[in-house]
Amino acid sequence: MSVQTKPQTEPPALALTDVRSGYEQATVLRGVSLRVPPSSVVALLGANGAGKTTLLKTIAGFIEASDGKIAMEGVPLTGLKPHVRRRRGLCYIPEGRGIFRSLSVRENLALQAPSGNERRAVELAVEAFPALASRMSQLAGTLSGGEQQMLAMAQAYVVQPRVLLVDEASLGLAPKIVDAIFEFLVSVNQRGTAVLLVDQFVSRALQLASYAYVLRQGEIVHAGPAAEIDESDIVEQYLGDGTGQQG
Ligand SMILES: Nc1ncnc2c1ncn2[C@@H]1O[C@H](COP(=O)(O)OP(=O)(O)OP(=O)(O)O)[C@@H](O)[C@H]1O
Ligand SMILES: [Mg+2]
Repeated sequence: MSVQTKPQTEPPALALTDVRSGYEQATVLRGVSLRVPPSSVVALLGANGAGKTTLLKTIAGFIEASDGKIAMEGVPLTGLKPHVRRRRGLCYIPEGRGIFRSLSVRENLALQAPSGNERRAVELAVEAFPALASRMSQLAGTLSGGEQQMLAMAQAYVVQPRVLLVDEASLGLAPKIVDAIFEFLVSVNQRGTAVLLVDQFVSRALQLASYAYVLRQGEIVHAGPAAEIDESDIVEQYLGDGTGQQG
């Protein structure tokens, strides 16, 4: 029997080093560094406008960083288009779900699936969210908000990504659906996917995560093990309003 020696330090699932990014009119991220260890869940917290969505879009490749490095499992993603990053195992579930409203649930799942696996995708999606089973022929735009979010999340089960980026998955959903979404994230993570999670439910995000970063005005202002973060301190100091200032 051969003994496999593991490299002593596995590269992080995701590593950002001094990333600057933003829009034509304005730089939003001003040198962000963060790490998502292999198979871990990391929470990204921050007030409205702090730059959380901009950060996830930059990692996914929808905005190209103007400076700094982004690497997945040690391999730089610089210059790669979103679909190439996706093929390499990076799955991004945007706020607002990013599903095709005028296509059926089945068609959406087929598009999420690696080619040749369209049928399997339907089975896996139903395994993840049984409520989708009876909705396959329905237009995605006519699903309830919770069902739409399940459809969007299902791809994280179907493609088994190396890294999952989730932006505000629980926004506007009933508590029972929010529970289902968080349970789902646990199961995805247990299958080996590393998760970078943005969610308005700070306490739930901290429960799920092993580590957390707080972003304020495009800079990381706090980082530490999730268990050591005092939620009310963080809310008071950084999450109160759009500027992160008190008042
Ligand atoms: N397409 C855009 N063009 C120009 N500025 C933008 C664009 N999208 C976002 N911004 C600005 O970038 C900053 C960061 O926005 P971003 O959406 O990343 O924040 P966020 O932390 O996700 O906030 P929220 O919690 O409200 O979702 C804000 O000042 C926002 O107005
Ligand atoms: Mg956002």
